[in-house]
Amino acid sequence: MYALDPLFRKTSTRSWSDAGPESAFDTLSQPAEQVIPVQRVDGWRVITSQKPIYVLPPGAGEHRVLSPVCPHLGCDVEWQGGEKHFFCPCHGSVFAEDGRLLSGPAPRGLDYLDSKDQEGHLLVQYEYFRMLVPDREVIG
Ligand code: FES
Repeated sequence: MYALDPLFRKTSTRSWSDAGPESAFDTLSQPAEQVIPVQRVDGWRVITSQKPIYVLPPGAGEHRVLSPVCPHLGCDVEWQGGEKHFFCPCHGSVFAEDGRLLSGPAPRGLDYLDSKDQEGHLLVQYEYFRMLVPDREVIG
């Protein structure tokens, strides 16, 4: 039965990723891109990949971490410090510092990622979201 166990589990299991010490983000004055290791369990396989995220400065909004994936068609947005907004190079959507949609074809703002403080480290749960829909919907 142990050998078959992975067959009966969910296809993919999300886990918390360590984004680094909280102290590294306490003094941010604008969103900072950070690359985190994301581990997924798929049956018997454990797959680790590196994913970018944006950590927001304290007080920037309701959420602490944003996915850089544009909810229009999935391009990675860029923080443009001079303009103080996120910009999607593919079709020009613009998002505020807290991820709100300002303009462009994207159907909603940038998606937040769940995060928590654990023993002085910022942990992030990396997820994927459905594109082209107006509401945030986790798909994996
Ligand atoms: Fe971002 Fe189209 S993929 S605006």
